Amino acid sequence: MNVIGIESSCDETSVAIISNGELKTNLVSSQDFHIEYGGVVPELSSRAHLQRINPLVKDALIKSQLTLENIDLITATAGPGLIGALLVGYTYAKGLAYSLKKTFVPVNHIEGHIFSGFLMEDKPEYPILTLVVSGGHTLLLIAESPIKIRILGTTIDDAAGEAFDKVAKMIGLGYPGGPKIQSVASKGNKDAINFPIAELKQQYHFSFSGLKTAVLRYIQALTKNGELGESQLNDIAASFQNAVVKALSRQVKKAIQNFQVKSISLVGGVAANKAIREEIINIGNKHGLKVVIPNYEFCGDNAAMIALRGQMLYESGERFSLDTPPFPSLKSKYFI
Ligand code: KG4
Ligand code: ZN
Repeated sequence: MNVIGIESSCDETSVAIISNGELKTNLVSSQDFHIEYGGVVPELSSRAHLQRINPLVKDALIKSQLTLENIDLITATAGPGLIGALLVGYTYAKGLAYSLKKTFVPVNHIEGHIFSGFLMEDKPEYPILTLVVSGGHTLLLIAESPIKIRILGTTIDDAAGEAFDKVAKMIGLGYPGGPKIQSVASKGNKDAINFPIAELKQQYHFSFSGLKTAVLRYIQALTKNGELGESQLNDIAASFQNAVVKALSRQVKKAIQNFQVKSISLVGGVAANKAIREEIINIGNKHGLKVVIPNYEFCGDNAAMIALRGQMLYESGERFSLDTPPFPSLKSKYFI
């Protein structure tokens, strides 16, 4: 079976092909031009997807030595994401499916991230405690099967990636903030500043807005006496990153105590963060759990995870109509 995946939910246009279970190609075209605006400009993102999608599909087919006629399953991100951006890839995929009379599978972007560990050679085993940390979402859940996802907690305000991006902006590091904070943090002392971690009543939920405000207040107090020095910046980044690591790991540890799971998986754009990866590996090893964290290529937005999730749903017996509208929100019938 040959599956094509198309992803266009934010600022990455991506096309992937999985052939008989093997990932043949995963092309990602990143829209770096948003950097000069300090964040993703939705209208520019849609236009760029429109320009890039067709050449990317052609390239992906050539690299996989396939033609459109050889494709059995057409999958695309249906949401959540920027609606204008989503529509480009989603409508394109539907058009292909309609004209070629192929089966179409709409895919929830977050479900793509959730199961991205299955792109690795050593696959997770159900039930999988999964921490999703991306620019728009932070979720702790247990994937019990491909179509049963038990949500334990979400963020009540900012997503983890959003917190990285906002703090990076505050200290003048620019966009996207995550990788920049990580690099500056590597030169700082993570115990220099004790930023607060929110204690929430809801057991597995997260909150990052208080932490973000604490960083802002700290910077405001320091800059009264002039510009921040390099070592101060490094310490702020390292201490902030450490607070995020602690906030995430606290809920993960709690979940391990209360639920029987076989594996633990860390996914989403923020899963590229070295300190967070190390923490999850440590926790998993300590509890004798299999740890599966996707390679960097599969942490950020990519179509390989969309093609994989589409095929997973199809093989689970799920069928979809071409009338399925795109959805900008997180909802999924597989979430329990
Ligand atoms: O999953 P993703 O590529 O897009 C969404 O679906 O949101 O996640 C993007 C987020 C951004 O907030 C970016 O700053 C963050 O992932 N990110 C990181 C790192 N690399 C990317 N955050 C922390 N450390 C990193 N190394
Ligand atoms: Zn994503």
